[in-house]
Amino acid sequence: MQAVLTLTRSTVGQKVVVAVTGVILFGFVIGHLAGNLLLFVGPEAFNAYAAGIKGNPPLLWGTRVTLLVSVVLHVTFTMQLARRNATARARGYQKPRKDQITTYAARTMILSGPLLFAYILFHIAHFTAPGLDLGGTFHPENVYANVVNGFRTWWVSAIYIFANFLLGLHLFHGGWSAAQSIGAQSPKYDALKKQVAVGLAVFVSAGNIFIPIAVLTQLIGSADQLARAQAAFETEAVTEAATGAEEE
Ligand code: HEM
Repeated sequence: MQAVLTLTRSTVGQKVVVAVTGVILFGFVIGHLAGNLLLFVGPEAFNAYAAGIKGNPPLLWGTRVTLLVSVVLHVTFTMQLARRNATARARGYQKPRKDQITTYAARTMILSGPLLFAYILFHIAHFTAPGLDLGGTFHPENVYANVVNGFRTWWVSAIYIFANFLLGLHLFHGGWSAAQSIGAQSPKYDALKKQVAVGLAVFVSAGNIFIPIAVLTQLIGSADQLARAQAAFETEAVTEAATGAEEE
């Protein structure tokens, strides 16, 4: 325990925690995107997937707790590192070092982090708790309709597109930094690390941005698909009522 506390007080230890929690969160967004792409398969597939997760409490709560702990550690240690950096810089170099990565993504990290945090709070309020009536009535089980109705509202789509663009910048810089913190520091692998960081960031960001665009351009979410999604719940309600009446 003492060793863990000592490690998390050192700069290297804190960088490792930020990197490891960043990798966990990165893994989540990739998995989440893979699930969300079922929207393109159809309302039945997407709603069955959402029901499958909700019907598996250990998976649902295990993921929630892991995400919460990861976000708290990620934000806390990032803030501590930024504060240390600022103190060191005040007494340090007069000019910025040329060998540091000063890409646009790196400079916007401090802004994209809090904005992404605000986006995640909005996103959870939109789809999970309490669930917002954006563009239609919120239905806890008809997740397909919640997504389509929400994204049909232009400003909701605009928030998601902007936030997922920021997510791309954040993941690119975060992925690159994690590779620097955890991996070997060798110029030989720098180009490869950069390509992997860019590739994954573009995949997640573009995939997520594609979803509201697909709704706005009516590639998904046709009247027929929404009716099918709704009908499935009506059939279920009728079956449940009939079973209940028989049991009585
Ligand atoms: C266009 C992109 C996205 C779509 C369409 C989307 C869709 C959804 C939906 C429908 C839910 C509720 C699932 C349900 O009720 O079964 C959800 C939950 C969630 N999403 Fe997203 N999501 C997107 C992007 C993201 C991103 C980029 C993040 C993180 C940075 C994220 C984090 C979460 C979290 C933390 C939850 C709550 C899970 C829970 O219930 O515990 N999502 N998302």
